[in-house]
Amino acid sequence: MSQKISLTRYLIEQQRRDGHIPQDLRLLLEVVARACKSISQAVNKGALGGSASILGTAHTENVQGEVQKKLDIIANEVLIEANEWGGHLAAMASEEMQSIYAVPNRYPQGEYLLLFDPLDGSSNIDINASIGTIFSVLRKPEGTSAVAESDFLQPGSQQVAAGYCIYGPQTTLVLTVGDGVAMFTLDREQGSFVLIEENVRIPEDTQEFAINMSNMRHWDAPVKRYVDELLAGQDGVRHKDFNMRWVAAMVADVHRILCRGGVFMYPWDKREPEKAGKLRLMYEANPMSWLVEQAGGAATNGRQRILDLQPGKLHERVSVVLGSKNEVQRLTSYHSQL
Ligand code: AHG
Ligand code: MN
Ligand code: MN
Repeated sequence: MSQKISLTRYLIEQQRRDGHIPQDLRLLLEVVARACKSISQAVNKGALGGSASILGTAHTENVQGEVQKKLDIIANEVLIEANEWGGHLAAMASEEMQSIYAVPNRYPQGEYLLLFDPLDGSSNIDINASIGTIFSVLRKPEGTSAVAESDFLQPGSQQVAAGYCIYGPQTTLVLTVGDGVAMFTLDREQGSFVLIEENVRIPEDTQEFAINMSNMRHWDAPVKRYVDELLAGQDGVRHKDFNMRWVAAMVADVHRILCRGGVFMYPWDKREPEKAGKLRLMYEANPMSWLVEQAGGAATNGRQRILDLQPGKLHERVSVVLGSKNEVQRLTSYHSQL
């Protein structure tokens, strides 16, 4: 790529070419990117922030009963403060907040709803491993004045934009507005995100899988069967060897899959049988599933396409299988054979 294309230019060209990104949505995405830049800056400092160090626990719990890290809370605040005043949003929802956050009356109200996992992969913060921010944008249903939680409960197929920003060796923002997947790496000298790939494709076949193997004894039969077959390698029914990776940050595992293929699974298991899975539908599974589909991959909960699921509540959980199409289809078919 001879000439560098910034995120700003990419979005303006998308707006001009297809007209399907309205100006408000473009500006909203710019603000999300700016917030990610600021989170990236904080992540970079690590322990050097002195008393403002981003490392360690906040000694509080979120609505999911998980202990919050300082950075979970900082990233949540950065996203709220950056997005509340611009006039593009009606409300926000986050993994770290029990209820929705309506844009305060002192600011103009926009047409969009923003959902986010401010900091994904929290257990990686203190060990200097990859983490990220995941986001999803919905349109506020027409004819509603005050926003309610029920306005957010739309299937993932209704998303108008989705993406994540990974804070790894590089900070890279990955985005879809329904026209493929584009990746932008943060140029720290310029202070802007620069396009590095605009036609991300996931190969249909793969020899790499990602799952937390320590949960094996808790899995359901179809997942056990599928992973057993992968582990059997050359000698088994698959007649090829598979390799395994698990970063413990969905952002990083999905990023690897977008870069070189693979299948990611966080299935339902018997540890907490009443929960559909560990990952959250609305701000983890939905945005990632749309990105993966836009790159030619597939995403199901083992039975159905994730993007077709009707959420019943904001913090709903879901079982997730996503990535290279042929592997996702195979595991999904094992579920229907039982
Ligand atoms: P979060 O840090 O936002 O709570 O999400 C962590 C999630 C996901 O990113 C990752 O794939 C998974 O939890 C890791 O779970 P295990 O620790 O059970 O492997
Ligand atoms: Mn997460
Ligand atoms: Mn999180």
